[in-house]
Amino acid sequence: MPIQWFPGHMHATRQALAKRLPDIDVVLELLDARLPGSSANPLLAELIGTKPTLKVLNKQDLADAERTALWLAHYQAQPGTNALALDASDRAPAAKLVPACRALAPLRGGMVKPLRVLICGIPNVGKSTLINTLVGRRMAKASDEAGITKVEQRIALAKDFDLYDTPGMLWPRITVEQSGWHLAASGAVGKNAYDEVEVALHLLASVRGPYATRLQERYKLAAVEGLTDEELLTEVGRKRSALLPGGRVHLHKAAELALTDFRTGAWGRITLETPQDLAQWQADAAVKEEARKAKAAARVAKKLPQRGGPPAEDA
Ligand code: G4P
Repeated sequence: MPIQWFPGHMHATRQALAKRLPDIDVVLELLDARLPGSSANPLLAELIGTKPTLKVLNKQDLADAERTALWLAHYQAQPGTNALALDASDRAPAAKLVPACRALAPLRGGMVKPLRVLICGIPNVGKSTLINTLVGRRMAKASDEAGITKVEQRIALAKDFDLYDTPGMLWPRITVEQSGWHLAASGAVGKNAYDEVEVALHLLASVRGPYATRLQERYKLAAVEGLTDEELLTEVGRKRSALLPGGRVHLHKAAELALTDFRTGAWGRITLETPQDLAQWQADAAVKEEARKAKAAARVAKKLPQRGGPPAEDA
């Protein structure tokens, strides 16, 4: 079943964001460098419109450097947009972020018109970690479960540079199914919203093409080719001793191990998607979404009372 995840507070976040945006000069959108397209909130894109945006591909230490370069070029080609990559090992991220934001709004700044930057990102993308580094102390309270952060706060990064923080935000309906799988694999989605075996199977399906040798090395497999995704996950379980009494593979345990290996970088630096992949998935999703809407409209029309007669019966 496709991933759906919309904790209650996210609706409030959307409203808070819509209210805050008119005063903002630059939006700093934090993305997960392993899944830049899937970790970009389409709702945010809709809310920010043409406002200058700095896309920050965070966790670059876990991502494939070649694919990160592709994504940076992709974003830099968009109007009013700049992009850079970052990770938590950078002790002075402000040295990169502040000038990049200033360049996007050159008419702002100075004591009269401080630059107002809004930092946004879906849960688990590393926003609290980055803010703590920026302010040099533990500010934002990151919680154990993705999706729970605190209320908005303002951080003065320089005398004429204010950074506004908002709670993490996902979106009401994940229309690009593949993005849902990638978000779940990355840890951005609450655990109760997905089945780990299903997510691990989708993760292996995304990784086995471009990174087959990594899986072979990690799990000492002769070959990945020729195995179905389920057989591959079974092999992962066998090689990691995730066994049930009698020697059968504990598939759920194998899935947990595969997900942890991916999240911790045990497979090496991996990026699950390219800009081209995303464009294709979005086009496919748009077609599906249209069909879904048409079906829903037809259902409603069928139930509407016909002029002068009783409601039509359901087929
Ligand atoms: P959030 O506020 O956006 O929800 O995310 P948060 O900063 O809490 O970060 C989520 C997880 O990602 C944390 O790991 C954090 O350490 C890790 N993280 C953040 N930035 C980077 C990065 O640039 N590279 C890598 N490799 N990891 C990063 P955790 O396991 O949930 O917690 P902990 O290990 O910090 O205790």
